[in-house]
Amino acid sequence: ATENKSFRIGFSQRTGADTWRKTMLESMNQELSFNPEIDFIVKDAGGQSSRQVQQIQELINQQVDLLIVSPNAARPITPIVEKAYQQGIPVIVVDRRTASDQYTAYVGADNVEVGRTAGLYANALLKGRGNVVEIGESPGSSADIDRHRGFVEAIHQHPGIRLVAKLEGDWDKRSFAEKLTRLLSDQPTIQLIFAQNDRTALKAHAVCQKLGLEQRVKIIGVDGLPGKNEGIDLVDRGILSATVLYPTGGKEAIRTAVAILQKQPFRRENRLPITLIDSSNVRIMKFQNEKVIEQQADIVKQSQRISYLTQTYASQKNTLYITFA
Ligand code: FRU
Repeated sequence: ATENKSFRIGFSQRTGADTWRKTMLESMNQELSFNPEIDFIVKDAGGQSSRQVQQIQELINQQVDLLIVSPNAARPITPIVEKAYQQGIPVIVVDRRTASDQYTAYVGADNVEVGRTAGLYANALLKGRGNVVEIGESPGSSADIDRHRGFVEAIHQHPGIRLVAKLEGDWDKRSFAEKLTRLLSDQPTIQLIFAQNDRTALKAHAVCQKLGLEQRVKIIGVDGLPGKNEGIDLVDRGILSATVLYPTGGKEAIRTAVAILQKQPFRRENRLPITLIDSSNVRIMKFQNEKVIEQQADIVKQSQRISYLTQTYASQKNTLYITFA
């Protein structure tokens, strides 16, 4: 039923594989359920920039009315996003950035602030002294570059804190486990790991556990999702000292898209708030998330009820018409 859809949004996602991206898509779909007139086309680049460029071109060819892009890496994705924008397609960039200011709107948190927040927490944990390892995001992504910048800026406030190494996350399925094992064995003075996402943080924890170092090495993650083995749970179980809640922006991206398509006012820069979760607030975070999940289930139940009633009404109206015509 594409004919009666009045708008078509194309979404180019760097990967759909991890829970953070799945959460982003879920919140987009939830918001889209209020706009049934919108046709939503999702393309998943599987973590490959060349694939993402190709998929954005396909969306341009399909003549989408608006593009949402979460770039895999900043530079490789920039020219195709600029091309779409110059052709008059509104472009919303989500989460990671391109290397250009040619876009219609941006939705996401400030990753320098994410890194800085983690760095300040590391300073407090280490009381100004200690050796630290960082494990990054996919290389060349604005998330990796900015989180690193913010983290280093914060820990450099203390000359006693030293970043011994920055490892690459397992973005291309190669594992950092071996390198981390070597580092931790060779340098017994490493006290803290800053992992740029909670998935990586959990893997880093497994390495520490194998070496019997889980008490000595503190770990800080990023993302703070609800659910088993996700950030909030990991902080609650003491596996992570803290995580920085990094919102996905799914809902805000769709709201901005709808405003642009309906020619309503919108903000070009939509900076989402972040927050640090540690043992002092993890319980309340858990509690609130459970409430939200409950409410979402209620909303689904309600809309099922509404569509049942609408159908019943429509069929009864037909029956009446037939009887009295
Ligand atoms: C998911 C992810 C998140 C992270 C974000 C940064 O693919 O790696 O864990 O916060 O991307 O762009």
